[in-house]
Amino acid sequence: MRFGLFLFTVLASLAPLTAHSTPSSRPAPARAIEAEIEAKVSALLGQMTLEEKIGQLNFPSYAFPREPQIEAVKKGRIGAVLNVAHPDHVRLFEEAAQASRLKIPMLYAIDSIYSFHVAFPTPIAWAATWRPELAERAAEAIARETAQVGVNLTFAPMIDISRDPRWGRVIEGAGEDPYLASAFSAARVRGYHKGGLATSAKHFVGYGAPEGGRDYNGAQISMAELFDRYIPPFQAAVEAGTETVMASFNTVNGVPVTANRLLITDVLKGRLGFEGLVMSDFAAIKELVNHGVAGDLSEAAAKAIRAGIDLDMEGKAYDTHLAENVQAGRVPMADIDAAVRRVLRVKYRMGLFPDSPGGVRKVPPPIAEAAVRKTARSVARESFVLLKNNGATLPITPQSGTVALIGAAALSTNDHSWYGPAGLEKPVTESLRDALQARIGNPQKLLFAEAFADPCGQAFADKDKAVETAKSADLIVLVLAEDCAVSGEGASRADLRLSGVHTEMLDALAKVGKPIALVLETGRPLTLTAASEKVAALLVAWHPGTEGRTALAEVLTGEFAPSGKLPMTFPRSVGQVPISYNDLPTSRPSTGDRFTTGYVDEKPTPLYPFGHGLSYTTFRYSGLKISAPEMGRDGQVEIRVDVQNTGSRGGQEVVQLYTRQLVASRSRPLRELKGFKKVGLAPGEKETVRFTLKASDLVYHDDQGKPVIEPGRFKVFVGGSSTAELEGAFQISGP
Ligand code: BGC
Repeated sequence: MRFGLFLFTVLASLAPLTAHSTPSSRPAPARAIEAEIEAKVSALLGQMTLEEKIGQLNFPSYAFPREPQIEAVKKGRIGAVLNVAHPDHVRLFEEAAQASRLKIPMLYAIDSIYSFHVAFPTPIAWAATWRPELAERAAEAIARETAQVGVNLTFAPMIDISRDPRWGRVIEGAGEDPYLASAFSAARVRGYHKGGLATSAKHFVGYGAPEGGRDYNGAQISMAELFDRYIPPFQAAVEAGTETVMASFNTVNGVPVTANRLLITDVLKGRLGFEGLVMSDFAAIKELVNHGVAGDLSEAAAKAIRAGIDLDMEGKAYDTHLAENVQAGRVPMADIDAAVRRVLRVKYRMGLFPDSPGGVRKVPPPIAEAAVRKTARSVARESFVLLKNNGATLPITPQSGTVALIGAAALSTNDHSWYGPAGLEKPVTESLRDALQARIGNPQKLLFAEAFADPCGQAFADKDKAVETAKSADLIVLVLAEDCAVSGEGASRADLRLSGVHTEMLDALAKVGKPIALVLETGRPLTLTAASEKVAALLVAWHPGTEGRTALAEVLTGEFAPSGKLPMTFPRSVGQVPISYNDLPTSRPSTGDRFTTGYVDEKPTPLYPFGHGLSYTTFRYSGLKISAPEMGRDGQVEIRVDVQNTGSRGGQEVVQLYTRQLVASRSRPLRELKGFKKVGLAPGEKETVRFTLKASDLVYHDDQGKPVIEPGRFKVFVGGSSTAELEGAFQISGP
C-alpha cells in the first residue's frame, strides 16, 4: 500500500474565470515590454511589401519536395509551417528565413497534444483526474520533448465543450463542463508554456456541438449559451496567455466561424481581449467554398481576412488571392496590416527575434524519457474511473483466487489511441498481462485467453477457449479496447454500444457465472447499459498511453486506488444524447409520469452521471456550512464540508461543489459545477474542505452575451458527483 504518498489536499483552481488580463491591468514592466514590441512591429511593418506581409499570413503544411517551400521562405512568402518534426528540417527553414530580406523568424507548429515521444493518456483522461496540476505537468513534459526538435508552437489545448459522445473528438477535450474544462484549459496552456511551446487554443468556438454529433456539422448556439457554456475555456486560455487561437471548421448559427466576423473579431478579439493571432483550421479558408459562403478561393480569402482570420493554415487562399483583393479594393490594407501585426506581435512575444524586448526564447533542457514516463504514469493512475464495484470485486487480492484475464488488448504493447505527430518512433509499452503477472506473481493464479483476433475485438480468435479459461477461474477480468480509428477527428458514431464482437464475448462470459471486472479502453462515453448489468465491476481506463497498462495493473491490484471522476455523462442509450447534469429545468420535471420530461422507452437519467467515480473505499459527507446566509453582488461566502474516509483503505475523493439559482430572468441549469478539490484520506480520516464562492462566480449571460449577476436564492450541493445530496442555500441580495 502506498497511500502514505497520497495524503495531501489538491487545490484545484476555484475561479479561473476572473477578469482577463487586459493591457491596463498588467504590471508596468510588462506594459513597457509590450509598448516596445508594438514599436518594433510598427517599424517592421513599415518596411514590408504587400507580398512580404501576405507571406507572414501564409501557413502551409510541410510538403515534399520541400525545395519550392524553402525558396518561398527565402522570398518572404511563408511565415509559418506545420508538421515539420525533425531538427534538420526545421534548420533548413530557419536558414531560409534568415536568408530572406527581413529575416523574420518562423512559427513551426505540430499537433503535439498528448504525445510527442512518450504517449500520455488522451486529454479526456486528463480531465478525469480532476487534477489540473497533473495536466500542467503532462503538458510541460510533452512540450519539452517537442521543443527539442525546433518546433515552437503546439496545436493545443483542444478545449471544445461537448455534450455529445457521438462526436469523436471528445477524446481530445476536457468533456462537457465549462468550469472543469476552464481549469484544464488554463493548466494546459501554463504547462506547454513551461515546456517551451506557444499554444493554440482550439477550436473557437462551438465545434463540439455539431448537429447529430457529425464532425464538421453546423451548430446552433444562442449568444447566452455561447458565453455560458462554450466560451469560458477559451477565456481561461486567453487569461493564461495563449499566443494563438484556432478557428473551428463549422458554421455557428449559419455562418462558418472562418468567415464569422462577429465571433472572431467582435467576440474573441474584442470582448475577450485576445491580442494574439487567430489561425484558420486546416484548409478551412478554402472550404468556405464548400460551405457556400464564397464562390471561389479569392472570395474565400477576402471573407476570412475580413472576419479576422490572421493565418491561413494550408488553405493557399491568402498566398494566391489576397493581393488581388487588396488591389481591387475588396480588402482594405488596414485588415492586412492588422493581421500581420498580430503575427509579428506573437513572434516578438515568443522571443523569436534576436532583439525581442521580453528576452530571446529559451528552449528548456531535454527531459529524460524516464521522467516523462513517470509523469505519464501519474496521470494514467488518477484518470481511471471506477463506475461500478459490487461486492468489492476489485481490487484483485490474494482472496480473489484465480484470475482469468480475457482479451487480446491485454497483450498489446500499442496504445490504440490517436497518436499525435505522425511517423515518430514510439517507446515500448508494457502489456497489461505482463504488468499484472508481475504483481500477482504465481503464474497459476493468472490465466489468460486472447479471445479476439485483434486487440480491438473486431473478430474472434477463440471464443470457446476464452469461456473455458473463465470457467477455471474465480474472477474474470475482461479487457475491451476500442480502436483509435473509432475516435478522434472524423470519427463520429451513430451507435455508442460496445463495438466488434465485444458484446458477444461478454454475454458468453456472463453465462459462466463468475464475477466479471470489465476494463474498458475508450475515447468517449459509450452506452454500457446492457454491459453494466452483466458485470460486477466496471473500470473505464480511456486510452491510457505508454505507461497506461502498468498503471492499470497497479490500480487493478490495489497498489493505487482509482480516483477518477467522469468529465462527461455516460448515457443509457444514444437517443438520450445530449444529456447532462447541467441541463435546464423543464415545465414538467421528470416524475416517471407520462406527461413529464423523459422518454416512453428509456429512463430520463443517464447511466453514470457527470462527476461519478468510485474508489476502493467509501466517503461520507457531513457538516455543510455556509459562512453567511446572504451576500451582495460583490460579496463572497465560504462553504465548508467535512469529508471522511469511512472504509478500511486509503483513497482520494474529488469533493464537488454545485449551485443552482432557483429563480432568475432566464431558466438556470439544474446544477452547475462551481468548485472541486481532490483530497487524499487515510482510513477513518476526516478533513474539512473549504470553498470560496464569490457572487461573481455565479454570473450568467443574457441574449446579447452580456454578463448578469442576478440577486436571488441559490442552492448549494456538495458531494462526490453531480447527484450530490448534501445541500444548503444562500441569497444574493440587491435590487
Ligand atoms: C484539426 C486540427 C489540427 C489541424 C492540424 C485539423 O484537421 O481539426 O485540430 O490541429 O488539423 O493538424
